[in-house]
Formats: sequence, structure tokens, C-alpha cells
Amino acid sequence: MSTKNKLQHFAENLTFDNLFQMSYEEVILGFPLAGKWAADFFKNNHEIILELGCGKGEYTVGLAKRNPDKNYIGADIKGARLWRGLKTTQEENIKNAAFIRTRINLIEFYFKPNEISEIWITFPDPHARDVVEKKRLTSPQFIERYRKILKPGGIIHLKTDNIILLESTLDTIREYNHELLEVNYNVYDGQPENELTQIQTHYEKMWLKHGTKIKYLKFRLNPVFN
Ligand SMILES: C[S@@+](CC[C@H](N)C(=O)[O-])C[C@H]1O[C@@H](n2cnc3c(N)ncnc32)[C@H](O)[C@@H]1O
Repeated sequence: MSTKNKLQHFAENLTFDNLFQMSYEEVILGFPLAGKWAADFFKNNHEIILELGCGKGEYTVGLAKRNPDKNYIGADIKGARLWRGLKTTQEENIKNAAFIRTRINLIEFYFKPNEISEIWITFPDPHARDVVEKKRLTSPQFIERYRKILKPGGIIHLKTDNIILLESTLDTIREYNHELLEVNYNVYDGQPENELTQIQTHYEKMWLKHGTKIKYLKFRLNPVFN
């Protein structure tokens, strides 16, 4: 994307009422919608599902369209990517999807405990080298952050191209006694059509062109750690 396009997208981002981008200080001092997203923003009492590292927000938008009785929020640091999801919600008048431009490291400040029922992590950067392992969005450190905002027994979905990330997440699930609900090493192999096969992200399409198998796992946080 050219610099000019990026600047245009950043400018248009300021006009969307379903995008939240705050300074670090504002977030730390207390995000006004924390604990009140459903009642004050979505104006309902539906559950909230979060997509982390959402990029262009294909899952946030795709799931919101499929499930109008649930609320979806996508979070990513890259505003130009978020623009795509935001524009789609505007063009298609989707009211149950919103976006936050933030580092995931701060995600716990945007919500109160028990506010989120599920988290999707879609094609996160694998950070395969040991030295940056703690940057993985499925590392124990990140899962600890998610625990602060997830309901007891909250569910985490991971969709990835990366086998090392999948295996390291499986190790974490075992080590911390989370409950593995599903693991699939090739979601397009004989599955019935569902949200895993019918919603594809930007990165997923790139990996599919290379013939990479798309993997998925789903786990429930162990109540002991919740
Ligand atoms: C490989 S891309 C995947 C994007 C999208 N989910 C997809 O599948 O097309 C990873 C995304 O995670 C975001 N990301 C990675 N680490 C992050 C962090 N700590 N905080 C916020 N966003 C992050 C990046 O900005 C990027 O958009």
C-alpha cells in the first residue's frame, strides 16, 4: 500500500464511530467503555467475542454477519489494515462489529473481568525463534492477559499456517492444564463447510496459494487458572 493510501485510510479511520484508538495514558487511566461495551456501545446484552491481531478483520466481520445475536471486536496495531474491516462494516451496515487500534499487550485495559466470552487469534506472527517466544500471542504470558478479561471457561480459537506455533500452543495447553477442545491439522480436509472454511483472511489466502495446510485449535481455559 502506498504512503498516500495509508494516510487516506488513517484520515478516514478518524470518521468511523466503531473504531477506538486511544493514547497509552488514556487507556491506562481507564477506558470509558470497559465493562460497558455491550450496554453502552452495542446497546444490547449479547456476548462479546474478540479477534486479536485481526488485520483486515475478516473474522470479526465474517462472524458478525453470521451471528447477529453476538458482538464482535477486532484488535490490531495497524490502522491501515483495520480500515478494510471498518469500511466493510460501514458499507454493509454491520452494527455488531467494532475495532480497537492497540497493542495486544494492553488488551486487558479495554475490558473488565468476564466481559469476553471467546477469543479468536487468526494467523498471528509465529515468533518461532526462542528468544522472542514471549511475543507469541498464544504464549503463557499472553494467555494470562486474556484470562483477566475472559469469562470463566472462556474459549480461545487459533487458526494458523504455522506448525511450530500450533505445536508450541499445544505444549502450553498441556503444561497449564487447559482443556483442548479441537485440533485440526488441515481444516480443508473433508470438513463440512463452516466458519473455519468459509471465512478466509488475507494471510490465509496467501498461505493457501503456497499450498500450506491451514491448522486450527480450540481450547478452554482451565478454571484453576481462570
Ligand atoms: C500475520 S498478520 C495476520 C493478520 C490477519 N489476522 C490475517 O490473518 O490476515 C498478524 C497481525 O497481527 C498484528 N499484531 C501482531 N502483534 C501484535 C501486537 N502485539 N499488538 C497488536 N497487533 C499485533 C499485526 O499488526 C498483523 O496485522
